Amino acid sequence: MTESTHEKKTFTRDNASNLDQTLRPNSWEEYVGQPKIKENLRILLTAARERGHAAEHILLYGPPGLGKTTLAHLISKTLGTNMRTTSGPAIERVGDLAAILTNLSPGDVLFIDEIHRLSKSIEEVLYPAMESGVLDIIIGKGPSARTVQLELPPFTLVAATTRISLLSSPLRSRFSGGVFRLNFYTRDEIAQILKRSGALLSVTIADTTLMDIAGRCRATPRTANYLLKRCRDLAQLEQQPLSDAVVTRTFDLLEIDSLGLNRPDRAILDAIINKFNGGPVGLNTLGASTGEEMSTIEDVIEPYLIQQGLIERTPRGRVASGAAYTHLRNNPLLD
Ligand SMILES: Nc1ncnc2c1ncn2[C@@H]1O[C@H](COP(=O)(O)OP(=O)(O)OP(=O)(O)O)[C@@H](O)[C@H]1O
Ligand SMILES: [Mg+2]
Repeated sequence: MTESTHEKKTFTRDNASNLDQTLRPNSWEEYVGQPKIKENLRILLTAARERGHAAEHILLYGPPGLGKTTLAHLISKTLGTNMRTTSGPAIERVGDLAAILTNLSPGDVLFIDEIHRLSKSIEEVLYPAMESGVLDIIIGKGPSARTVQLELPPFTLVAATTRISLLSSPLRSRFSGGVFRLNFYTRDEIAQILKRSGALLSVTIADTTLMDIAGRCRATPRTANYLLKRCRDLAQLEQQPLSDAVVTRTFDLLEIDSLGLNRPDRAILDAIINKFNGGPVGLNTLGASTGEEMSTIEDVIEPYLIQQGLIERTPRGRVASGAAYTHLRNNPLLD
C-alpha cells in the first residue's frame, strides 16, 4: 500500500456549506428590498401583536431563492412565537396535518413550504382550520361515520409557493392576511446583500467587483451568495485577492453570461429561436426538446427570462423577443 505523502488534514464543518442558513437575515434591517411587502407585514404583524391575536394567514409566492423562507422566519420572530415548519409533500395523510395543528401553541406560526403540493383531501381539512380554527375529523366508515370537531389553538399559517397558479382559488382566498408576490431584486439591492455576505464569509472584495457579481445573479439573492462563494473558492486556490479577474474567470467556468444566464437558460432561448423559429412553442414541446422538466422551465428558468424581456408567454406558447436573438448571437450556446 502506498502511503499518501499529503499532509493529513482535519476537516471541520464549513458554516458556509449551508449558505442559506449562515447568510439568512435575522432581522428586518438585514432583509434587503421588497419594501412594499415589508411595510404591509409590519402593519399586519404589529397590529395583531398589539391586539394579542394570532396574525391572519399569509401566502408568499415567487421564484426560488428570493427570500420566502427567510420572510417566514422573520414573521414568527416579529410575532414572538414559535415556528413549526413543514411542506406540502411532507403532509401525506390527514392525520399528519391533524397532529401538527393540534400540537401548536396559541399564536404559533405554521410554515407550509411548497403548499401547491398539498393533496386535495388535505386542503379540505385545512379550510375550516384556517377559517374558523377547527378541525373536522371523520371517525369510522360508511353509514356509522361521524364528524368530530376539534377546537384548535389560534395560529398563523404562513405558506410559500413558487407556483401560485396551481393553488385552488378557495385555498388562495383563505389567506386573509394577504397574498404577497416577491419581486426580483435590483442590482443595488443585491450588492447590499453581497456586502453583508462578504463580511460574514470574511471575504474582502471591492464594491465594483460586488456590482459585477450583482449583475450576473439573475436578480436572485441565493444565486448571488452562491456566486460569491464560488469566486472565493477560486481566489483561495489561486492565492489571489477576490479581484475582477477572478470573478470573470469564475463566470467563464460556470458558463454564466453577461446577463447572468446559465447554460440551461441559454438552451431554452436556443431551442425557441433555432428549433422553433422563435416560437410560439408550447411548454411541453420545449421541455421535450431540451430535456428540462416542464416545472423547472416554469418555476426556475422562465420567470427571469420573462422579466428580462427575452421571452414572452402567449396563449399559443413561448415566443422569443428581438432582445433574445441579440443576446444569443453574442452569447451562443457552445458545446
Ligand atoms: N431580502 C433578502 N435580503 C438578504 N438576503 C436574502 C434576502 N432574500 C433572500 N436572501 C438570501 O437568499 C437565501 C435564500 O432565501 P430563501 O431561502 O428565503 O428563499 P426562498 O424564496 O425560500 O427559496 P425557495 O423557493 O427555493 O425555497 C437566504 O438564505 C438569504 O441568505
Ligand atoms: Mg424556501
